[in-house]
Order: sequence, then C-alpha cells, then structure tokens
Amino acid sequence: MFPVRIRVALGVVTALVIALVPSVPALAEGPWPNDPQGPVARSIAELYWIMFVAAVVVLAIVDGAIIYAGVKFRERPGHVAQQFHGHNMLELTWTIIPTIMVVSFSVLSWQKLDFINNSRGGDVGMVIQAEGVQWSWNFSYPQEDRFRLNDGSHLTDAQELHIPVGMKVRIELSARDVIHSFWVPSLGGKKDAVPGRATDLWLQADRPGTYKGQCLEFCGDGHADMLITLVAHPVNEYAAWIDEAKVRANRFTSEETKRGRELFRSLACAGCHTIDGLTAGKFQGAPNLTHVASQPSIVGGLLSPVNEENLRRWISDPPAVKPGTAMPNLGLSEQQVTDLVNFLLVLE
Ligand code: CUA
Repeated sequence: MFPVRIRVALGVVTALVIALVPSVPALAEGPWPNDPQGPVARSIAELYWIMFVAAVVVLAIVDGAIIYAGVKFRERPGHVAQQFHGHNMLELTWTIIPTIMVVSFSVLSWQKLDFINNSRGGDVGMVIQAEGVQWSWNFSYPQEDRFRLNDGSHLTDAQELHIPVGMKVRIELSARDVIHSFWVPSLGGKKDAVPGRATDLWLQADRPGTYKGQCLEFCGDGHADMLITLVAHPVNEYAAWIDEAKVRANRFTSEETKRGRELFRSLACAGCHTIDGLTAGKFQGAPNLTHVASQPSIVGGLLSPVNEENLRRWISDPPAVKPGTAMPNLGLSEQQVTDLVNFLLVLE
C-alpha cells in the first residue's frame, strides 16, 4: 500500500481530472482564435499563440515553484521552518524577467497593430462601405463604373459582402442608430461602427469561400441575429458575380418592378406587411416580406416553393387558398397581380 501522503496526492489529482472532464468538448472548440484565413487574422492568431505559450510557461514555473516550496519547506514535527528575509539575486530575477517579457509583448503588439491598423496603405485594392443598422449591415460597393446600375446608382447589398480573393479591402464603417461592431473572425479583427464617426478596418481572404461574422456590440433585441456573410470569390469569377448582382439589383429598379412596388405601397398591402426600408406594416399577424423570395414557403407553409405561380394564386384570392385568413381578396386585375408578383420575386 502507498504511504498516506501519496494516496492523498493521488486522490487530489483524480478529483481534479474528474472535475475537468466536462470541459473537454469546450476545449475542442477553443478559446483558440478561429482558423485564420487571411493576413490580419493570421497576425492576430500569431500574437495570441506567442502570449498563450508564454503564459503557460510562466504558469508552470510559478506554480511549480510554489508547489515545490510548499512541499519541501512545510512545517513538520521536529522540523523548524527556516526564517530568512531578502534574497537579492531572486528578487532581481523575478523583477527583471517579467519586465523584459512585458516590454517585448508591448513592442510585438505595437508591431502587429501597425500592420492590422494599416487600412489606408497604398496597397488597398478596393473600398466598401458597411453601415450598421438595427439589425443588419448594408454594404455599398465603390462608385466605379463596374458597380453602376441602370438608374445611375451603384450596387448595394443588405445581405452579403462580396470580395475578390487576395485583395486588400478596406471596410469603412458607419452606424445609423446605435453602436455596432463588425467582426469576421477568420479574416480580420473587430471594429466598432459608431454613429457620427468614421472608422475602418481592412481584410483580405487567402482562399475563396464563405466566411461568417457577427455584430459584436450589444445593439438591442436583434443583436444576436445581426450576422455577416462574407463571400470571397476567385479573382477571375468576381466580375461574373458583379454582373449577376447588377442584374438582380436592376430588376428591383426596373420599370416593371417599380410598378409593383408602387402598388404595394398604395394598396392595402403596406398597411399590414413590413418590407424593411419600404413599409412598416401595423398588423402583427402579417408576415414580414423583406426576404419573401428566399423563403421556403408562404402562407405558413401552405404554398411552397415561393414562385410566380404560388404567389399569383395567393394574391389573387387569399380566402380561396386559406379559408378564414385575415388577408382579403382585393379584387386585383391580372396586370396588378403580375406587377405585385414581379416585385415580390425580387425580395430575396
Ligand atoms: Cu449590431 Cu449588435
């Protein structure tokens, strides 16, 4: 049998291991920085790992020394603890080493910050504006010809941010209502968007892909849903994306959808239904139609998918599709139904 103190030590270690087991799955997800996919994120991750490893080494040395001293010099029967005061060599050591460490970390952080904050360097390839609004981001692309729409305005997007791979992109941040914070962790750092103040950051993606981000400043009820989807395109496919996005945006500004939009506002629709940026409906039970075209179904799942045929059926005579519905038959003409459907179909 082991001596008592060994058994006590084993007991303590076992208890600690048992206590830590539940946190193992959490460790897999990490307090680690997310898989960095661009120069800014990489430089943040490097700094993180250098500091993390240094902290673990310091922890091991300090805790090791405390445990060693506690065991070796503890009070025992027939053993009087030695009393002494001051040890110049030791005190110098534990003053000088931490000082060197803190100064080196500061210098290293400044160097990295210099790189991370260099959003106005000459190597910036493109500038995109991101405006935070409770609770989404509006992205405006540069006032360049390639982003220009038929009506003379330039491309904006309320859902996704699209950039080409390998290009340094400056994101100019603003906020319409309260403070928000822009963060796409695998590509870059986070920065606040503050009403009445201009801030910016830069990003660059190494590889094509879709990167997720999140507003990181509590901004009200919808804060948790204020997501960012950033799509990085291979350089040779970026122009194709611009054309596609312009076709979609032009549909919204075309004469055909303009009629539907005006109808939506002037008929009873707008009194009940909300479309962000267009109408603020007052009827609680009426679905928000901001993104109706990208939803899987309408009428609470009765009609699926959301296409011309189903929208037409519904709008022409709602009570025929869903008896008892609060949405009345407005007695619309064929042309009015067509205009409304064309308009709704662009609400992706
Ligand atoms: Cu916007 Cu949190």
